[in-house]
Amino acid sequence: MAEATLLEIHNLTKHFEVGRSLFKKKQKLYAVDGISVYVRKGETLALVGESGCGKSTTGRLILNLEQPTGGSILYRGKDLASYTAEDWKRYRQGVQVVFQDSHSSLNPRKTIRHILTSAMFSSGTIARNKPQVAEERARALMAEVGLKPAEVFLAKYPNELSGGQRQRIGIARALSTNPDLIVADEPVSSLDVSVKAQVLNLLDTLQKEKGVAYLFISHELSIVRSIADRVAVMYLGKIVESGPVAEVFEAKVHPYTEALISATPIPDPDSTRNKKRIVLPGGVPSPMDPPKGCPFHPRCFRAEAKCATEVPPTVEVAPGHHAACHFAEERFATYGAKAPQNSGEAPST
Ligand SMILES: Nc1ncnc2c1ncn2[C@@H]1O[C@H](COP(=O)(O)OP(=O)(O)OP(=O)(O)O)[C@@H](O)[C@H]1O
Ligand code: SF4
Ligand SMILES: [Mg+2]
Repeated sequence: MAEATLLEIHNLTKHFEVGRSLFKKKQKLYAVDGISVYVRKGETLALVGESGCGKSTTGRLILNLEQPTGGSILYRGKDLASYTAEDWKRYRQGVQVVFQDSHSSLNPRKTIRHILTSAMFSSGTIARNKPQVAEERARALMAEVGLKPAEVFLAKYPNELSGGQRQRIGIARALSTNPDLIVADEPVSSLDVSVKAQVLNLLDTLQKEKGVAYLFISHELSIVRSIADRVAVMYLGKIVESGPVAEVFEAKVHPYTEALISATPIPDPDSTRNKKRIVLPGGVPSPMDPPKGCPFHPRCFRAEAKCATEVPPTVEVAPGHHAACHFAEERFATYGAKAPQNSGEAPST
């Protein structure tokens, strides 16, 4: 049976109105353009793709920091559009965030103690008239994220900490409400290699101990390969391929996935594929004027005539493995057989 689904996104869109001036009409920017994806309890779903493809906007929509233009987000089976005040309180506790830049996401004028306890109070996790309970929880969180002695770190200000320590505080703050989903937007991108590995280990340990799920936004495919259970590949606001990470990385059904992976130093035991780096022609087209047909066709090295005019359907090539390419099924038939077969199942709701 499929594990329980925590978060479901259906046909989600976010179109920004941009470029308005005295002489110019405003234009639509298709930042997120009809994505459907889900996160199960306790798993890591990675969202990958080039800069500007809509990863952070997706995260911000989930965090309710942006309002969708269309589509729906369901948490524990209930649509956010029909939330009551009580539902929102549960959501704020259940869904948390870790940002890339801990410098700007932690208030420099507040101590770590204040940052953590105020997160507990404002989310309603701990009542404001129970400061001692919040203090004990703050100390326990310091131990969980490996910052000892707790009383020393709780008295510090963010700028007295290293980048890795600040990111641990960001994680502690996210954990302070006992969430079951953390949106982690490039959480280790700004860290040195060794510190990066330590913070990734911490995230992994916390997941095992607490069963928290991660939506892990990253452009570093080698990290994604090692930590994610499933991956969704975005291009120009759309998810072009998604599925169990080992299978997606091995089968590379969508040519864009193939190109991304070819540019990443990931150990690949498959000798049947051409491992040469695929250099895509041109840059990513403007999200204000996405190409007709398959949005990837102007850069696709496998495009055929119909790709320029017909939007490819998203097909399920194997259980839980989807791709939006006219030739997805035949590519999976050729390459997918070598991929580790997945445990992907449709989400249970
Ligand atoms: N508030 C906004 N107003 C207008 N356009 C926006 C806004 N926020 C994001 N965009 C645009 O939406 C598109 C997607 O941006 P987003 O930040 O989601 O990309 P990303 O995949 O997170 O990129 P990166 O890897 O660089 O972080 C980009 O073209 C961006 O310029
Ligand atoms: S539909 Fe055509 S253009 Fe799009 S990814 Fe597939 S082969 Fe390439
Ligand atoms: Mg981003």
